[in-house]
Amino acid sequence: MTEQMTTVSGIRATGRLHLGNLLGAVETWVEMQKRGPSFFFIADLHSITTGFPGREVLHGNRRDIILDLLAVGVDPDVSNVYVQSAVPETVQLAWALGCATPVARLMGMHHFAEKKDRLSQLGEDANAGLLTYPVLMTADILGPKGTHVPVGADQRQHVELARDIARAVNARAGRDLFPVPEPVFARVDRVPGLGASGKMSKSEEDTIVYLADGPDVVRRKFLRAPTDPARARRTDPGDPGRCPVYRFHELLCDGEDLRRAADGCRTARIGCVECKAMPVGRINALLAPIQERRRDLEAKGPGYVDEILEAGSRRARAQITKTLAELSDLIGLHVPSVPDSWRMS
Ligand code: TRP
Repeated sequence: MTEQMTTVSGIRATGRLHLGNLLGAVETWVEMQKRGPSFFFIADLHSITTGFPGREVLHGNRRDIILDLLAVGVDPDVSNVYVQSAVPETVQLAWALGCATPVARLMGMHHFAEKKDRLSQLGEDANAGLLTYPVLMTADILGPKGTHVPVGADQRQHVELARDIARAVNARAGRDLFPVPEPVFARVDRVPGLGASGKMSKSEEDTIVYLADGPDVVRRKFLRAPTDPARARRTDPGDPGRCPVYRFHELLCDGEDLRRAADGCRTARIGCVECKAMPVGRINALLAPIQERRRDLEAKGPGYVDEILEAGSRRARAQITKTLAELSDLIGLHVPSVPDSWRMS
């Protein structure tokens, strides 16, 4: 088996990138691309498991996400950047892998169980795509023979399944056709939201800090964010442990600021507005260079993103089709060939 490190990761095309995407995964992508071949894609096939949002939305999200990824430092000359649905061979691979996956295992995945329960409360049925979601994700990973998968902690069970499927298929094949992929978790486990629940909610835009949010927008979102309810008046002391905003301090601020915030809160020496300025300053400093790079990239015109995706898809497709050919040959299915034109980079 190859010693080489191959990184694979995807991001669903549900909207612009936010702080959670950056700190929870994409920062790691940027690091990993320096260590070996990388495959980064927009998981549009996974996005449609929750409905068909429409062409305008998917195309818009795709462009936005790619620009954000490049602005953050994903390098299209080093990494293969593509759209999942531009590599239909992945879906064929998923079919074969699905035939080596127990359905009980899929029904027991907590993502599926949660979505199914939520849908049934609305009187709706879960679709088959939701059930087989992790098999497609396994094909995403095994297609380029990924060895490392940088993902958020919520994807742990999915990568675990991918590992089991890789082992199961290797056992049937009688050889190590697939590396058993390792999850790579970021320094930050979960980026909180700015609402009272402490969760990011796509339906409440103000609970999410987007990479595109300018300094004033970030400030406004923080100013509106609830803090410890005990601090009803400026002079009321509070408990940082009960403050949704303090979690951003913990994530982004250094020891001195942390102490100033925590002590100041408990003694009411510092007001919430002043206290919020600490993470706001950190976030704005983090986002400013990203936004500047994004503006430069946007100035290259709409064709720029298309060209990157074209080239990235072609290279990814060559690699993934090669894997599909190996597996197909082993099983006895039609063996696809890789057109020469896909190999060019
Ligand atoms: N399911 C992942 C998420 O929601 C996205 C994804 C799809 C992915 N395919 C993948 C991540 C393959 C890593 C590898 O975040």
